[in-house]
Amino acid sequence: MKKHSALFITAIALFILFGGCNTEQNQEIGTSEYQQKVDSLIKIMTLDEKIGQLNLLASGWDVTGPVMDPNYKQLIKQGNAGAVFNAYGVDYVTELQRLAVEETRLGIPLLFGYDVIHGYKTIFPIPLAQSCSWDLEMIEHSDRIAATEATAEGINWVFAPMVDISRDPRWGRVSEGAGEDTWLGSKIAAARVNGFQGNNLADEQTLLATMKHFAAYGAPQAGRDYHTVDISERSLLEYYLPPFKACVDAGVASVMTSFNEISGVPSSSNHWLYTELLRNTWGFKGFVVTDYTSIYELIPHGVAQDSAHAGELALKAGIQLDMQSSIFIKNLKNLVKSGKISEKLIDKAVSDILLAKYKLGLFDDPYRYCNKTREGNEIMTQASKDFARQFVTKSCVLLKNENQTLPIPETVKKIALIGPLGNAAEDMLGNWSAAGWAQYCVTLFDGLKAEAVDKNIQIHYEKGCEIVGLSTSGFDAAIKAAKNADFVILALGEDRNMSGEAASRTNLNLPGVQMQLAEKIIEIGKPTAVVLFNGRPLTIPELDQKAPAILEAWFGGIQSGSGIADLLFGKALPSGKLTMTFPHNVGQIPIHYNMKNNGRPVDPTNPEYRFRSKYLDSPNQPLYPFGYGLSYTNFSYSNLKISSPEIRATDTLTIQVTVSNTGKSDGEEIVQLYIRDLVGSVTRPINELKGFSKVFLKQGETRDVIFKITANDLKFFNLDMEYTYEPGKFDLMVGPNSASGLKDSFSLR
Ligand code: GLC
Repeated sequence: MKKHSALFITAIALFILFGGCNTEQNQEIGTSEYQQKVDSLIKIMTLDEKIGQLNLLASGWDVTGPVMDPNYKQLIKQGNAGAVFNAYGVDYVTELQRLAVEETRLGIPLLFGYDVIHGYKTIFPIPLAQSCSWDLEMIEHSDRIAATEATAEGINWVFAPMVDISRDPRWGRVSEGAGEDTWLGSKIAAARVNGFQGNNLADEQTLLATMKHFAAYGAPQAGRDYHTVDISERSLLEYYLPPFKACVDAGVASVMTSFNEISGVPSSSNHWLYTELLRNTWGFKGFVVTDYTSIYELIPHGVAQDSAHAGELALKAGIQLDMQSSIFIKNLKNLVKSGKISEKLIDKAVSDILLAKYKLGLFDDPYRYCNKTREGNEIMTQASKDFARQFVTKSCVLLKNENQTLPIPETVKKIALIGPLGNAAEDMLGNWSAAGWAQYCVTLFDGLKAEAVDKNIQIHYEKGCEIVGLSTSGFDAAIKAAKNADFVILALGEDRNMSGEAASRTNLNLPGVQMQLAEKIIEIGKPTAVVLFNGRPLTIPELDQKAPAILEAWFGGIQSGSGIADLLFGKALPSGKLTMTFPHNVGQIPIHYNMKNNGRPVDPTNPEYRFRSKYLDSPNQPLYPFGYGLSYTNFSYSNLKISSPEIRATDTLTIQVTVSNTGKSDGEEIVQLYIRDLVGSVTRPINELKGFSKVFLKQGETRDVIFKITANDLKFFNLDMEYTYEPGKFDLMVGPNSASGLKDSFSLR
């Protein structure tokens, strides 16, 4: 009998023996029953087969790092892979799954992972843009669509959400996160896990989520990617870890290591982080995967002498699945034989990974995500594209709008679109664009043209200059186009690879000669609006001074141009608010809204006094603060009331404010609540976001907005590192952003 058919029969027999339990069973019962099956399976696995489950390989596609072992198909057939990533499409996934299921002794199915960061094929705005919508439902729904599309093409595990908090826009990966605030970032983190995993992993449209990068990857020295993170335990617990805890509380299935060290200990060998905190304290039950070759990187980090030592440190720390370094597969067997590691550690890792496969239903049917019908019907549907377009309008932030430059007046009949981002399809995808294709992207030029048809408007596009580069040869044509137009739109910013991984910048100005082009165009004096395309806050004080209007559009995905055009023509109303501070200059970084007061804060009544915490050559304040964003109308705040000037630990404080639309159009306002703990056993931030409410108000409409606060909302890590609240006086502020609003105070007794 041919070898493979014997194997096939063995595999079928084993499926019957170990096949997953009825997927209708509820999750909890399933888990304990699954655990019994996992334990039985592990009992018959050889050491080689166990170690094979701890190896994660990149297929040849879409590689996001060095490919360590191109003959991944051979490794799968030998049982030396538990999972593959960057492989998608029903046919390809079926081919690789068949190798594992029918050509190995036990036929254990593979996980198929992929970086689905802001959409799978229907690409949505980059996560930083999405966070500026402050719309948790839309964020969750976008990941629900992403999971539906990804599972329709064979993916059952995503390397998302990225929940790294960062206060440093030099670091390009801020584009992948939810900005600088821990409280909002934690809400968004949980929404993303729910979007991907739904409430039943056995459902074929749900998949495993991965919280990453654990931990504190967003705080590298000098904003330089992969670089040293050296922060206090207090900062780690207070600002960088809570979004990960929110993911664990939401039931996230896996965790990915971060490349960085934390105060001397690289994450990939950090036993405190991965065993004492993640498992023993937080109760995490899923599995841990490394980032790309991060076990190997323990050697250049300088904590491992060689690969074997790196593998030993990682496994002992609680790391379980080795992405692409091939260190586990090449060293664990010898480490067991030499007694340096116990096989029990390997069994625990295998158990957590097999349990995830059971929960997905892969032991019931390894090909359950290989459904050609779904692949044909559930990807880039009109409903998904319509949602993507709406999400663009909610993610953009109106930074300036002098004299109601926007929306474009109906009298306008000739528009000049000028700038290197005006017709840049691929850049609209942003970084980490998964299976998204540039040809499906609506550029700003496309979007304006589509709108112009029934408005009988002429759109003339001139690139003017490149994104980077010093040539000004395109300026004359651009200037001529602007002079011939009634209205000018400047499309400026970064290309999509100037943010994301390995994309740190020390200079955050507009690249190339774009600012010079903008000056030449703006000085012509036509009504002009700048649309910014970028993956991180930029330092644009000159542009802020000279441009009549600025719309921050980030990278909006496949419907960028349509959504932006909706905003520019007033078919949609801008409501986004910044979730990351825009500095005046790089010298101010790190700069964020919730900084400490220090012992010599500037005295506003005597700002010139020298011996205060300020610069000789820059303001302390940012260009645009956290929470800032304009609309086409105006909102006023009045009647701030609190239910009591004093609460006990068991009370609820009710805060009410009246918000009125006093402008000339309808609008949506994100009303924000900030609290300041005036005196603590440790220093406390001058501001902390503790609530928000999105309210749509028609022109002239007024609404009371209510927030509720309890002592639990006032907790922090006190002098003894206990997470608790302390009695004392608190200021509160309710307003349109972190720098302004109506104020009051209360005491916690
Ligand atoms: C990359 C990224 C990580 C990603 C992984 C797989 O280096 O750091 O976010 O999930 O490799 O592509």
